Amino acid sequence: MEKYNIAIDGPAGAGKSTIARRVADALGFVYVDTGAMYRAVTWRVLQQGISPADTERVADISRNLRLELRPGPEGQQVYANGEDITGLIRTPEVNANVSDVAKIREVREQLVRKQKEMTAAKGVVMDGRDIGTHVIPDAEVKVFLTASPRVRAERRFHEMKDSQPGLTIEQLEQDIARRDKIDEEREVSPLMRAPDAVLIDSTNLTIPEVVERILELCRAKAPGG
Ligand code: DC
Repeated sequence: MEKYNIAIDGPAGAGKSTIARRVADALGFVYVDTGAMYRAVTWRVLQQGISPADTERVADISRNLRLELRPGPEGQQVYANGEDITGLIRTPEVNANVSDVAKIREVREQLVRKQKEMTAAKGVVMDGRDIGTHVIPDAEVKVFLTASPRVRAERRFHEMKDSQPGLTIEQLEQDIARRDKIDEEREVSPLMRAPDAVLIDSTNLTIPEVVERILELCRAKAPGG
């Protein structure tokens, strides 16, 4: 069967990564979580004691960081300069700073270049904020996945409550609203639906239902799919 690319964009907590991974597994495609790349740069910036507002130093970090994504038994693993940092990129500190790092033009240019290379051979399901608009504008299947802010906060809460006791849904909802605003209002490739992306609102859908809708799109739209 001919290979093609699938772009899945949407705001934080819409379920993109779980769904994209399942779609990739169902098709035997490679899953790439681009948010993890922005998170890895942010982790390194904070580790070095650099302020995300210091755009020149942040750009330097992202230029010099050797970033690798490798498929692992529990999903994509992230390596920075050879060190496995998969477990270090989803902390409250990284959450609080990643949108500010992701709005820096040079950081985006560098990461988008890498992402484009990853999709060149096709057979990729890539999730992020600008995949259908900038990274793979010619993707055969494009989805914009969303859900209400409250439902997104509730989902994040269930994912994080064991590792971060004391966290509240209200706190997460505020954090999500703040990140959505920065992602939507930034100057360089803001979060938005590509005109040819299919909108799926997952507020009242289960994960298997969303996966099935995307697989239907693949069957209908992709060459040989
Ligand atoms: O999907 P996530 O929560 O891991 O993304 C982390 C941050 O990175 C989020 O604030 C938006 C940003 N991001 C981006 O700007 N472009 C992408 N392609 C992926 C993520």
